[in-house]
Amino acid sequence: MDIKAYMGSASEWSGDALAVFVSEEDLGDFRFLGEDIANLISWRVSESSFKAQKDTTLWTCLFDKRVKHVFLVGLGKESQFQLDDFRRAAALVVKQATKERCRDVLMVSARDNLRGVHQAMVEGAVLGSYKFSKYKTKKDNGNEWEIERIYVKGSGESDIKEGTVFAESQNFVRDLVNEPGNVINPVSLAEKAKKIGEEGNLEVYVYDENQLKEMGMMGLLSVGGASKTPPRLIHMIYKPQNPVEKIAFVGKGITFDSGGLNIKPSDFMRTMKGDKAGACNVLGLMRAIAKMDLPFEVHGFIGAAENMPGGGAYRPDDIIRLRNGKTVEIDNTDAEGRVTLADVLSYASEQNPSCIIDMATLTGACAVALGEYTAGVFANDDELVSDFLATAKETGERMWQLPIDDERLRKKIKSPVADVVNSAGRYGGAITAAMFLQEFVGEGIKWLHVDMAGTDNTKEEYGYYIKGATGFGVRTCLAWLREKERKRPAGL
Ligand code: BES
Ligand code: MN
Ligand code: ZN
Repeated sequence: MDIKAYMGSASEWSGDALAVFVSEEDLGDFRFLGEDIANLISWRVSESSFKAQKDTTLWTCLFDKRVKHVFLVGLGKESQFQLDDFRRAAALVVKQATKERCRDVLMVSARDNLRGVHQAMVEGAVLGSYKFSKYKTKKDNGNEWEIERIYVKGSGESDIKEGTVFAESQNFVRDLVNEPGNVINPVSLAEKAKKIGEEGNLEVYVYDENQLKEMGMMGLLSVGGASKTPPRLIHMIYKPQNPVEKIAFVGKGITFDSGGLNIKPSDFMRTMKGDKAGACNVLGLMRAIAKMDLPFEVHGFIGAAENMPGGGAYRPDDIIRLRNGKTVEIDNTDAEGRVTLADVLSYASEQNPSCIIDMATLTGACAVALGEYTAGVFANDDELVSDFLATAKETGERMWQLPIDDERLRKKIKSPVADVVNSAGRYGGAITAAMFLQEFVGEGIKWLHVDMAGTDNTKEEYGYYIKGATGFGVRTCLAWLREKERKRPAGL
């Protein structure tokens, strides 16, 4: 699928599908589409119940006119526009145009003066075309159709480039997260990292189980102890000419979470191939960053392990010394993510970044608190969290800050026999998990943690998502980096 800017008038374009993004206020006047079509569409609208509400569409087949199909997509009331409305609208268009076997589509928004609107349309189009059908030996009827060209009216070239990089990286992450545990294990995940490094000219270091032992990363080793595939630490680096700041991303990379000896009940074990989503985000980010020409030195860290039961498994009651010297008492082997992240956060801190952003499908408690469409955000720095959340508003990835300043609650992660315990009861489970991670963030480093349990995966198709992995988090991190670059004081 090729995406291009279109600078002409909608009244002159000819092709398979004309997609018109309309607000509730725009419904009356379609003259900008050209007289030949405008009258037909106005009549069609007046005969239908279409009111241009958000996420609604009206399709009209014009057969042999200069455009074969006209799709109207609702954006709701203009005063309530959010960028994500345009992403979802573009995805709806792409899904519909694929069904109608269109080869080329022109997307026109009657209102396009919102900052970022064209990029959002591009992102929606690329995200909306996502499929995961590689394991279907027989292709579903119609599923194999690919739109050849999408034109975005009035778009700048940079909107198209950036939107494509953002959304393609997100689709890349979706592909990887959707891969099952028999395909992606710690070793094959590290191979993926190396491949991304080669393609994007990044430094990539992979540490195997023997090296991890020397490095004192007993958390990562313990969690991966019962797997046929041993753990790996992955470290990727993007270094521009004169970096102005060093930033680190850390991802939870449990390639499958069975729960370990505290084995999960069957229903809860489904979707646990997705427990590597944070790690996949880091891979997707590094892949995108290699194409973005940012002034930051960016480090990506992944602790990859498979949490299995077996003779080599770590146990409840075990006491483990982690990379930074702190000891952890294991209460529950299913609280494995934090044990691996503890080592990786310590390691990342040693590289002295100014800030660390970690992403992890960490706690069911987070999904219980916020629902499956909103991620929890925790941070030790107010400016970092407010910038990050402001960006998330623009990218449409729902995030909400949860507090880590409850000192009484913090006592729950204290252990009578070790420095910390890896599980602290039901109440405030997402918060105590974040507090556990905080113990391993180096002094003076700004840190933000995204708990994306629930948002990494969707059970139903909506907006630009289909059932399965969402790639949630990638767009916000990339947009946050761009915004950080834009806000940089002049001369730096
Ligand atoms: N990977 C899970 C968290 C999770 C749950 C992610 C649902 C996505 C959807 C994590 O390792 C886990 O098992 N957490 C436990 C922690 C508990 C044992 C303290 C949980 O949330 O139940
Ligand atoms: Mn678990
Ligand atoms: Zn897990």
